[in-house]
Amino acid sequence: MAENATHNGTATNGSGQPHRTAPARNGKAYGFVDHTFDVVVVGAGGAGLRATLGAAQAGLKTACITKVFPTRSHTVAAQGGVAASLGNMGKDDWRWHMYDTVKGSDWLGDQDAIEYLVRNAPQAVYELEHFGVPFSRTEDGRIYQRPFGGMTTEFGQGPAAQRTCAAADRTGHAILHTLYGQSLRHATEFYIEYFAIDLIMDEEGACRGVVALCLDDGTIHRFRAKKTILATGGYGRAYFSATSAHTCTGDGGGMVLRAGLPLQDMEFVQFHPTGIYGAGCLITEGARGEGGYLTNSEGERFMERYAPSAKDLASRDVVSRSMTMEIREGRGVGKDGDHIFLHLDHLDPAVLHERLPGISESARIFAGVDVTKEPIPVLPTVHYNMGGIPTNFHGEVLTKKDGDPDAVVPGLMAVGEAGCVSVHGANRLGSNSLIDLVVFGRAAALRCAETVSAGESQPDLPAGAGDNALARLDRFRYADGSTPTAQLRDNMQRTMQSNCAVFRTGEILEEGHHKIHDVWKASDDIRVTDRSLIWNTDLVETMEYDNLIAQAVVTMDSARNRTESRGAHAREDFPDRDDANWMKHTLSFCDTVGKTVTLEDRPVHTYTLSNQIEYIEPKKRVY
Ligand code: FUM
Repeated sequence: MAENATHNGTATNGSGQPHRTAPARNGKAYGFVDHTFDVVVVGAGGAGLRATLGAAQAGLKTACITKVFPTRSHTVAAQGGVAASLGNMGKDDWRWHMYDTVKGSDWLGDQDAIEYLVRNAPQAVYELEHFGVPFSRTEDGRIYQRPFGGMTTEFGQGPAAQRTCAAADRTGHAILHTLYGQSLRHATEFYIEYFAIDLIMDEEGACRGVVALCLDDGTIHRFRAKKTILATGGYGRAYFSATSAHTCTGDGGGMVLRAGLPLQDMEFVQFHPTGIYGAGCLITEGARGEGGYLTNSEGERFMERYAPSAKDLASRDVVSRSMTMEIREGRGVGKDGDHIFLHLDHLDPAVLHERLPGISESARIFAGVDVTKEPIPVLPTVHYNMGGIPTNFHGEVLTKKDGDPDAVVPGLMAVGEAGCVSVHGANRLGSNSLIDLVVFGRAAALRCAETVSAGESQPDLPAGAGDNALARLDRFRYADGSTPTAQLRDNMQRTMQSNCAVFRTGEILEEGHHKIHDVWKASDDIRVTDRSLIWNTDLVETMEYDNLIAQAVVTMDSARNRTESRGAHAREDFPDRDDANWMKHTLSFCDTVGKTVTLEDRPVHTYTLSNQIEYIEPKKRVY
């Protein structure tokens, strides 16, 4: 596995040249284990595995580095399904899917990327079927599709579309296991339980690979690659209550900010309407797709008031805001009136058993509820980051350089929730995430196949390559301040939860800005107690926190900056969408040493890929 590796404090850089390593504070030098690949993928969720598989299928020497065992990646928790206009349960068309996605994005999505997504979606789902994903079936054996919020027919004029392809309510689980199995069939090298510390960037601004810590034995690995693909997922754990796994710490976004590159549209954080009250676990929107509905303390199906046409299947931003309004106005349920009920008890138990077995179990375990008899207590809960690492629809990372807002960063790619190809814009439609993972995971692999020749020679790494990662590791390993990581993390999560929530005002965001910057500054006083390199969870959680806090700060600052309401960003002091001034992406750069943020912007792509559909003009949203 290891190439050119020595374990005595020196290592080689792939060409036999000795590499200087930064000394550790215990007086010993760190050594690198060096590797060279055509493509290195960081992350083994749906997007990472699809990219890994595609690159390996193209004959490229491919590694996949992952901090958790691949089938434990957060994609495993995706429930309701994957959107594609197969038309198995009624007429459908990719153009209708495109219209819904553009409208759902509140006109912040890049329309070229959206067209790429929806046109490639059916083929991507059939490919999953052929790989072996055990989709639920219709009576005549086709892939079962359920309605999901915001998915319509006839450009919003027809009835709800049944577009979301489901494997019961364990679709992500089915996809992840299938993709891992397929990846193993090809010559992929998995580096499992390796934590990526930092990117290797050269003086020209190109990415040359990544440095990672093997959690099991403490060795430090330098991966040199023609393409490094970040598929590290979202940063939901910047918040106190999230459906995201504790591993969702935005490690790719943290590395990108430290490399001086921007993140995009970080103010757009999606709250899923139905997290289990108190526990935060997801109850799929598929539950409402199968006929479930929400009620307030008066037993009223209040969504009929807020969204007379779509009702409980309005898009998530709308449902989450409506629930929050009901609670604020004193119509919440429970002894503190601080949540809402989701009813499934009117549905046929056979349907619940067949189509929603997973959430029936979650409701029993986490809320003590038998869904056939009682409603589930639910609350809007942080679920997804629309923002992330800006990319084009090939998965290539973009930055703003010399006046070009779409300048490609050589060697660096990003896919999945870590990325912001901007198909979701200001708000993602449910089930558009899983399709994003597989369509753009595949697109990134295709781009690698187009631009990299298998085994082509790579220049030596620059002198000192990876020293930034060693310095970061060493700084935290020997951090001897007085504030434990857990305390800083708690302060960050509570600030984000209370000051950057479903509804926002200038005043609350201003307070949030000061509080979150204070937490960031206080991080200089961080304390790590375990100095070892072997399974040092204290150290890893600290590096994860470091990734989270930078993203929390740019999220808060981007939200404070955007003086309009759009998608998931609801400003009570600026209640309208303002296309004249704000139909643009936010780019946030961060000096992670000086602890400052710089905000810029980037135009939305207001053009499509083909002449088969025209640019979809902004219009007022009616539900
Ligand atoms: O509700 C759900 O099943 C979540 C789906 C999604 O976020 O795409």
